[in-house]
Amino acid sequence: MSEYILEVKDLHTSFFTDSGEVKAVNGVSFTLEPGKTLGIVGESGSGKSVTAYSIMQILADTGKITSGEVLYKGEDITKWDKKQMQKFRGEKCSIIFQDPMTSLNPVYTIGNQLMEAILLHTDRTKEQAKARAVEMLELVGVNEPKKRLKQYPHELSGGMRQRVMIAMALACEPDILIADEPTTALDVTIQAQILELMQELQKKLGMAIIMVTHDLGVIADMCDEIIVMYGGRVCERGTAEDIFYRPCHEYTKGLLRSIPSVERMKERLVPIGGTPINLLNMPKGCAFCTRCDKAMKICLDTVPEEIRVSSTHLASCWMNVKAQYEAENGGMKNEQ
Ligand SMILES: Nc1ncnc2c1ncn2[C@@H]1O[C@H](COP(=O)(O)OP(=O)(O)OP(=O)(O)O)[C@@H](O)[C@H]1O
Ligand SMILES: [Mg+2]
Repeated sequence: MSEYILEVKDLHTSFFTDSGEVKAVNGVSFTLEPGKTLGIVGESGSGKSVTAYSIMQILADTGKITSGEVLYKGEDITKWDKKQMQKFRGEKCSIIFQDPMTSLNPVYTIGNQLMEAILLHTDRTKEQAKARAVEMLELVGVNEPKKRLKQYPHELSGGMRQRVMIAMALACEPDILIADEPTTALDVTIQAQILELMQELQKKLGMAIIMVTHDLGVIADMCDEIIVMYGGRVCERGTAEDIFYRPCHEYTKGLLRSIPSVERMKERLVPIGGTPINLLNMPKGCAFCTRCDKAMKICLDTVPEEIRVSSTHLASCWMNVKAQYEAENGGMKNEQ
């Protein structure tokens, strides 16, 4: 039996469009231990959601996992049939989407939708499912839960709807909860409350969480490990401390310069220059090379391998190879 609840190995996912093959996920690997939290960060279009949807196998019709493995407790679920995947999605792994209105059905009451999820995936009676729905709403901090069951999604505030979504996702006690930008649509105080709630529930229920976000600042103190994605690849991974205090990839450094912090109140925020890459026209070497101030010749030609920076920290950037070489040889002989 695997020590990991989830293991993604060299995952490749493409969309086959009229303009060509869009390689949205390009060799992503990571592991997740039971009860732990993994953060996936990166700017818009870096392949975070497609990674999440690939795990759940809820890609658009044009999307396909072209190679790689997704192991749940050591079993490759990319080989599973529709029925097995349905069970996986209902009982083992849940997802919360960015905008609750896209996943809550506006014409059914909250109670209806919560109970349906519970009835579909457990063998509870209708009465028991109703009791469970009330219990779940209480658990996620929705006041007057019995009254809420009779309400429609539009009658609830944004924060409340997101709590209902979390209740739905957790109703069947999954081992893994994927939260794809769960708080982006909410204002800052509600955002903090929802993240706190997720951490509390994790302590109570023990599920592992994959937290997908474009905002590094939001997830810093809740992740055991963070992977930074760019152009469908993982460019850096490590603990939150590694990523925040010792970033080793020029892209991560750029991301950090672009978020506000209390210590840097008076400094200007620096957005990362250039435009995000076109996946139909990927650079031959490092995906980030066209926007990187430090790019060397090798960066344009060869995809950097993942280099171990410490026992917890890896980065795919040629700058690290250069730094290691210089440290070992007292300076680079053939300067680029
Ligand atoms: N159905 C699709 N057809 C074609 N390309 C797609 C499709 N869905 C996603 N893509 C492409 O895959 C790439 C990765 O998209 P993805 O949604 O994973 O980005 P993301 O990192 O989640 O960004 P965001 O922060 O905006 O949510 C993007 O370039 C996107 O255009
Ligand atoms: Mg996304």
